[in-house]
Amino acid sequence: MTSLPPALLAALEKALGPGGLLTDASDMAPFLTDWRSLFHGKACAVARPASTEACAEAVRLCAEHNVPVVPQGGNTSMVGGATPDETGHALVIVTSRMNRVREIDPIDNTMVVEAGVTLKAAQDAATAAGLMLPLSISSEGSAEIGGVLATNAGGNNTVRYGNARELVLGLEAVLPDGQVLDVMRRLRKDNTGYALRQLFIGSEGTLGLITTAILQLQPKPKSVEAALCAVTDAKGALALFSAFRNTEPSAIQAFEFMSGLSMNLVNTLIPDASLPLSEPAPAYVLVELASPREGGALRDLMEEVLGNAFEEGLVSDAVLAESETQRLAFWKLREEHAEAQKRAGASVKNDVSVPLSAIPTFIDRATAACETLIPGIRVAPFGHIGDGNIHFNLVQPEGADGKAFLARDHEMMDTVANIVKELGGSFSAEHGVGQLKTYMMPAWRGGAELDMMRRIKGAVDPEGIMNPGKIFPAA
Ligand code: MLT
Ligand code: ZN
Repeated sequence: MTSLPPALLAALEKALGPGGLLTDASDMAPFLTDWRSLFHGKACAVARPASTEACAEAVRLCAEHNVPVVPQGGNTSMVGGATPDETGHALVIVTSRMNRVREIDPIDNTMVVEAGVTLKAAQDAATAAGLMLPLSISSEGSAEIGGVLATNAGGNNTVRYGNARELVLGLEAVLPDGQVLDVMRRLRKDNTGYALRQLFIGSEGTLGLITTAILQLQPKPKSVEAALCAVTDAKGALALFSAFRNTEPSAIQAFEFMSGLSMNLVNTLIPDASLPLSEPAPAYVLVELASPREGGALRDLMEEVLGNAFEEGLVSDAVLAESETQRLAFWKLREEHAEAQKRAGASVKNDVSVPLSAIPTFIDRATAACETLIPGIRVAPFGHIGDGNIHFNLVQPEGADGKAFLARDHEMMDTVANIVKELGGSFSAEHGVGQLKTYMMPAWRGGAELDMMRRIKGAVDPEGIMNPGKIFPAA
């Protein structure tokens, strides 16, 4: 049963309409646990507004009654960013019913999209219009635009098109007092004071709830070439990246690294995944080239660079996708890494970035440090090596107790983070801070930086009702 006072319950039900408010424990359950099953929260109810107006009214009522609000999209956060705390006071507001692609403009190359549209559905709509939404992440089938923007998602195409932040021209968001901020302008140039939309990108729902956005699209590629390559290690992968970049930087659409261990987990734990190379390698690269022009130029480029890399001993084997089905099969091998690691037992994710030049040193040092800390640990790094983002994920030793392993998560995270810090990197490259990494904020973003973030939060959300417990460590 809900703890909401009857008057507020009735007002919320009226604002949200039929099916818009869930109060039954079993209906609410899927929204109270994160994808990784690391965080288990409680809520007074789960709201599912179908429009900005309904959402704004729900937030206004919450502000009036001092009820915290936890925004949630597809619930794919890796850091517990969309899970409420255990008090049961919060209202979870799920954006999934605001799910219309409102407009695609082929001259502006823009898309107006509501928060609850999945990233995959938005990509498909752009493709159907002959365009491309250049943002791709492993969870795109469930992740929703609102959450993707609130967390400034990165993913596979950042190397070419930037993070979510770079794609947002306009935004609409419900503020903590229920007002609607409408900065839905599709302008490339608009220097009129603070760029308020950017405040919400990466704010992880702590400043307001994103309801609609205008996204910048790109021409749809007419030719795409993908290759899966066997390399020696991260150093070899980086040398291969440099070879492509020095030959034709604008052609690189994705450049992904996978360690032998993490690829092996995919190969053994994911049905229908099979390595197309003759034998397993110490590490792999998935490189994708794309161009809005037709013709065989990309195939020539791929063959030229890989041929040279083969002669120099950078690549020991490579397969080029001969069909769209094969290209998607290569991507399946990459995108199932998180799922395979989940199936392998408990795991600790270190979503870090370092300058490209420091990646090999980082992987070597962090691997040695973690293997010393927990003998038998399975170090399974992979990620977006072309933009310096490594998922330095640690899987429990085979047969070990998962709970006992997770109880040491801070030891592992700190061991890795200390090395990242020495190398000038970040402790969170793309997943955000959520509730998992709040404890790291003072050491990493302390002083004036955290102080300014707190002041912005205090100015926009003086009562602290938006997504409490996220980003900021308890004061
Ligand atoms: C990915 O790129 O697949 C993810 O961000 C997942 C992860 O860190 O496990
Ligand atoms: Zn990633």
